[in-house]
Formats: sequence, structure tokens, C-alpha cells
Amino acid sequence: MKSLITMESLRAWRKKLTGKVVFVPTMGALHHGHEALIARARRLAGPKGSVVVSIFLNPIQFGPREDIAAYPKPLKNDLLVCRRAGADAVFLPTVADMYGPDRSVFVDEESLSSVLCGRSRPGHFRGVCTVVAKLFNIVQPTHAIFGEKDWQQLAIIRRMVRDLNFPLEIVASPTVRESDGLAASSRNAYLTPEERALAPQIHAAMQAAATKLKDPVAIVKALVRAVEKIPKARLDYAEAVEAVTLDSLKNRKSEGRLAVAVFLGKARLIDNIPLPPLK
Ligand code: PAJ
Repeated sequence: MKSLITMESLRAWRKKLTGKVVFVPTMGALHHGHEALIARARRLAGPKGSVVVSIFLNPIQFGPREDIAAYPKPLKNDLLVCRRAGADAVFLPTVADMYGPDRSVFVDEESLSSVLCGRSRPGHFRGVCTVVAKLFNIVQPTHAIFGEKDWQQLAIIRRMVRDLNFPLEIVASPTVRESDGLAASSRNAYLTPEERALAPQIHAAMQAAATKLKDPVAIVKALVRAVEKIPKARLDYAEAVEAVTLDSLKNRKSEGRLAVAVFLGKARLIDNIPLPPLK
């Protein structure tokens, strides 16, 4: 497995490839959720294709009150995870190489970014779209894999690829969970043991609401009530949305998604589950 730091080295490596090039963008602090994405990439690429993972803690997607400095950076282990899951190359650009001091072009998605996490994290998806567009241009993958864990991000990237004609295919990979249901996340490391023990109640509350009830409004109400009962938890949002447009889900005729964001101690945890159409 190659570790490539400069754009030039990445480009030179890329130039020689002929088959599928499957790309997994990450911010590092890799866990078994990321590992599943890389393994999926390996299967998709096949023996003749190539898998490239990027590890780049993207400063422009963090808000001024979000502590990017505290984000874990276990590089040695990250490289181990990439190798184990079958990556051929890891791209580790520096912030200085990615962002010149006089940068003035950004990618702004104006519709899907205004709801859910977009409301509580202004500028976040602008940072995500800009870095992902840059990475797509540098890596020139044939396929890129994103996790359903970040459903809104996935929907926005799909929209960006459609609207800006990026010549690649976006592949969604299901959310990987701990055995108690908590969605695997680099941010789970911020939880104290006590908070970690409470955290699975978020997914349990979503599942309970979605299985017991049919109407989206009733589901969200039940979810809000259940999250409010979790000690130390503070709800950021709970919403039922259309899976593709992220518009508010009015009925169960189309594919929906139940999404939440919850503050627990120092962590802000997000999760989502499907609300399939009812016959
Ligand atoms: P990061 O949070 O490191 O996530 C990288 C990829 O792993 C994303 O596609 C995310 O959805 C996926 N992922 C994380 N946890 C997962 C889980 N439990 N199950 C399945 N997939 C999971 O998302 C980002 O980085 C950044 O915004 C990025 C796209 C790299 C742009 O900077």
C-alpha cells in the first residue's frame, strides 16, 4: 500500500491505472464503519481495479465553535485499517497544499444543505462539497463510496455530482453499528463511559418510534419525547424527510428517512434509519 502526500505523487500513481478506481474520502480516526467502506471499495474494484482512501481533516467544514484541534489523529492505526481493508493507496494531502491563502472558489449546494445539520452547522456542507469536489478532481475516481450514516452528506454529494456533471458513480454503504446499536463514529471517542452507556438509547428510540407508528408526525413526536427522557442528552433536531430531496416527509407513499442529532456531553451524535413506503 502506497502513502501519497503530494498531489503530484497521487497524479503520477493515478495516471498508470486502467481499471476501476474506487475512492473512499475520510477525515481519519478510522473505525470499523470506515473499514467496511474500504472493504466494499475493494470488492467493487476487483483484482484489476484500485482502491484509494484519502485522510484529510478538512478545516473548512468545521465551524468556529467546533474544536477541530480535538479531533483524534491516530495516523498509525488509520494506515493499518486501510491496509487491512485492502486499500492500494492512501492520499494524505497537507492543509497548505489543499488550500492556498488566497483561495476564492467554493462549491455551494443551496437546497439540501439548508435543512437538518445545515441549520445547526452553517457553512459545513459548503466545506464538504468544496473538499469533495477538489478530491474528485485530484483523484479522478470512477466510483466513490459514502456512508449512509451521514445521509444528508450522501444526498448532497449525489446532487453535486448530478448538477456539476462529475464523471463518476456514487455508491452508498449501509451504516455500521456497535453491537448495542450505536452508530460507529469517530466522535464516540468524546463520550465518557456513562454517556457511552446512554448513547445506544438514541437508536433504540428511533427504532421503537419507526416500528410502532406509521404517521411521520407521530413518529417524530414519539422520538422527541423518548430522546428528552435520555439523561444528559439534548436534542438538536429530529425529523422525518424524503430520502432524496430531504423535504419534510408528509406521508408514507415514498421512501423516507428518520434523522436525529443529539448532543451528549462533548459529542454531537447523528443517526438516521429508513422509513420505507407503506402499501
Ligand atoms: P468521515 O466522518 O471520516 O467519514 C468518512 C466516510 O465514512 C463518510 O462517507 C461517512 O458517511 C462514512 N462513515 C462514517 N461512519 C460510518 C458508519 N458508522 N457506517 C457507515 N459509514 C460511515 O464524512 C466525512 O468524513 C467528511 O465529511 C468527508 C466526506 C471525508 C469530507 O471531508
